[in-house]
Amino acid sequence: MDSIILNGIKLALAGPIELPLRWVGDDELLRQLLAAWMVIDERDIPFNPRLIGKPGVGKTTLGYAAAKRLGREVYLFQATMDTRPEDLIVTPVIGPDGSIQYAASSLVSAMIRGGVLILDEGNRMSEKAWASLAPLLDDRRYVESVITGLRIHAHREFRIVVTMNEDSSTFEVPEYIHSRLQPQLYIDFPEAGEELAILKENLPFAGSAILGYVVDFLQKGHAADEPYSVRDGINIARYALKMMAATQKEPRELLPLAVQRILGEDALRYLK
Ligand SMILES: Nc1ncnc2c1ncn2[C@@H]1O[C@H](COP(=O)(O)OP(=O)(O)OP(=O)(O)O)[C@@H](O)[C@H]1O
Ligand SMILES: [Mg+2]
Repeated sequence: MDSIILNGIKLALAGPIELPLRWVGDDELLRQLLAAWMVIDERDIPFNPRLIGKPGVGKTTLGYAAAKRLGREVYLFQATMDTRPEDLIVTPVIGPDGSIQYAASSLVSAMIRGGVLILDEGNRMSEKAWASLAPLLDDRRYVESVITGLRIHAHREFRIVVTMNEDSSTFEVPEYIHSRLQPQLYIDFPEAGEELAILKENLPFAGSAILGYVVDFLQKGHAADEPYSVRDGINIARYALKMMAATQKEPRELLPLAVQRILGEDALRYLK
């Protein structure tokens, strides 16, 4: 594992992630995110944008795709309600020889290497955890590690994007953090043509007929303000495809079964 020495303290660094994700559809959102990260002068600093939308609309995918577009390494931190301030920064671990070693989080590893951090599902994190990021998210651009006593400055190229589900706010994000997570980019459900392209991208081995049925179903759900997401659509199509392979039955026959097993009985009313 890579490590770095800061003020005599050795930090083990986390590695970037590689995901098979590609953003399909609304290029405008990608441009807006990239613009927010741009720095236009030596004295300028980048924004820390927030991607907001219902579950499964593509928030994580958009953050990842934008980072890749910049040609940067991508790091992911999955926030939960149990995330502690030190989890975000540096945690002590016991080394193979029984000595204490220090592990930098994916966030700090991205800060040091000049990568992009996706802070995923930030709405789940407590105020205490958010408070430790306050200096990073304004013009100071550093974090303090209580455990090592280190102040760690972000590389010039470091960028961060926070995703938040608008449905499942576990904690209210405090106002002083809200004001540091700007601009807010909303991701809405895609239009039919885009949704079909997204399904095709994710299920390149599926026939057009079945994906057409699924898009039709999803669009009716979106119009009725149901929380059915692209991810649900991918799962419905994938399940129907497996059943087709196993039973040799027709998509028309298997789709209701797939919808019912993925989303429940109620969802059947949106199937023609
Ligand atoms: N515009 C898109 N382009 C490509 N794939 C997409 C797009 N939107 C959604 N998807 C696909 O839909 C699935 C869900 O996307 P993603 O995980 O990015 O959503 P999310 O908003 O982060 O969801 P959650 O709120 O559950 O974290 C993934 O399989 C992703 O590949
Ligand atoms: Mg996500």
